[in-house]
Amino acid sequence: MSRILLTLLLCALFFISQYDLTMAQVSQPENYENGVVTSGDRYASEAGLEILQKGGNAVDAAVAVQFALAVTLPRAGNIGGGGFMVLHTGDGEINTLDFREKAPSRATRDMYLDDEREFISEKSKIGGLASGVPGTVDGMVTALERYGTLALEIVMEPAIRLAEEGYILSHSHARSLNSAADQLREFDGSTEVFIKPDGTSWKAGDRFIQNDLAETLKRIASMGRRGFYSGLTGRLIVEEMNRVGGIITLRDLRDYKSIWREPIKAEYLDYELFMMPPPSSGGVVMKQVLNMLGEMDIDKYSLNSADYLHRLAEALRRSFADRNYWLGDPDFFKIPIAELLDENYLSNRISDFNPEMATASDSVSHGHVNSLLESYETTHFNVADRYGNVVAVNTTLNGSFGSFVTVTGAGFLLNNEMDDFSAKPGEPNMFGLIGAEANSIEPGKRMLSSMSPTIALKNGQPAFAGGGAGGPTIITAVLQNFLNIALFEMNAAQAIAAPRIHHQWLPDVLFVEGLYFSEDTLEKLESYGHQVQRIGNIALTHIITFDNKSEMMSGASDSRGDGYVAGY
Ligand code: DON
Repeated sequence: MSRILLTLLLCALFFISQYDLTMAQVSQPENYENGVVTSGDRYASEAGLEILQKGGNAVDAAVAVQFALAVTLPRAGNIGGGGFMVLHTGDGEINTLDFREKAPSRATRDMYLDDEREFISEKSKIGGLASGVPGTVDGMVTALERYGTLALEIVMEPAIRLAEEGYILSHSHARSLNSAADQLREFDGSTEVFIKPDGTSWKAGDRFIQNDLAETLKRIASMGRRGFYSGLTGRLIVEEMNRVGGIITLRDLRDYKSIWREPIKAEYLDYELFMMPPPSSGGVVMKQVLNMLGEMDIDKYSLNSADYLHRLAEALRRSFADRNYWLGDPDFFKIPIAELLDENYLSNRISDFNPEMATASDSVSHGHVNSLLESYETTHFNVADRYGNVVAVNTTLNGSFGSFVTVTGAGFLLNNEMDDFSAKPGEPNMFGLIGAEANSIEPGKRMLSSMSPTIALKNGQPAFAGGGAGGPTIITAVLQNFLNIALFEMNAAQAIAAPRIHHQWLPDVLFVEGLYFSEDTLEKLESYGHQVQRIGNIALTHIITFDNKSEMMSGASDSRGDGYVAGY
């Protein structure tokens, strides 16, 4: 009897805490005049704020946040991974930086297939062969050189301090380290850093110090990219590769270059969106979906009504079918991008939409032109300053703790981004995404991504910045955050708290956040033929919104996970 009562009490507490969290977020978020940072970790947001308060601009602060996340959010924040940046400068320039990982030069198309040509998915996820050549350090140095105002040594100070002096683990930091302990123990370098010497679990309140990482960060701070891609760090990476059967060479490291790319631009109501082009799929999918939503008069439906969600799902279904077939690294595969974004093409693509019937995904293929995850291992952050500079960065190791391989003596984890390639056409990757030729493995090629850093302007002024974690759900969640603001005029906290759905063509399932949608909405969607599946949470996002009139900004981080808004 007492056990039943205890269970009931725990359930009640769970729902009360969920309710409190959600209500706290839904209230009016705080407004800031001078600058704001939203990221997946409190220490990292505070690192960004520290740099803003020292007189740095949003790019200086963003670089500080990225390096701090490598220390305080080791499962996703990184120097051994990669990502994308979208930025807007005070004088109206918009640019995007691709610092996505690349396949090593010795990678081969069938490197994850066995003799029977079966996909051995472990190999692309865990251990030496899982890693692409990291892009983060080159990305940060490149962005700082072009748009920053402070020296690398200065913006890296908070990260170095957090590694050297350590930081106090929260419950969630400790839980995250403990949950990966078994896999991390498989590798000596990871054991050294992430397993307590006495073998016990981490607890909230423990101080977590990372001396080797501090030294690596100092080499980067004093030598820039050479402090990572060559010299001691470069040698340590290659030695680790030899130890764990990896194939990244010194030459691969030296050759890594991040790339400035033209943003994908879309207009929606009185907003202009600037999004990441391939090898991210975020921009193409979001632009396609916004266009198809327009064709279906989405603005006539109320938020999250069955008819609204049906339209969203049908647009997503068609767009993900295109994504999986047509998108990859544009430097290796000719993507028919103009055609994919063409209004007539998209209007034709959605012309078979039935307002009362879901289209079966097996009857939807890519267009002709001439298990879903519930943990969040990617991370995103935004920084805005009082000069009109806005930076949105989506960055990752891919899976939680990447390949689980830590570079011995250098103290940082390597990514398992190779799993984002399509290792065998038709075979799903860890996100259930099924790829094609456009995203096959080739030496030096970047793997297709769903990370979707996005900035939207209204009347030429910043209005929204956002991105998130959650593989393909990043795209759908950022899109829903934006629609909540643009269509439903929500504030940052409301927009992020509203319940979400996800559809990615295959599997042919409409995922809904289980706790929040009403039974009759879901029943109506089922009556239209959707295979509705309730799951825990969909994506983990961080956004900044701007009030053009008051010139104030506010931020929100998902109550679905940890995150922190710091501003002044
Ligand atoms: O680039 C991508 O799309 C993936 N590597 C993102 C991975 C991710 O979001 C994992 N977290 N949930």
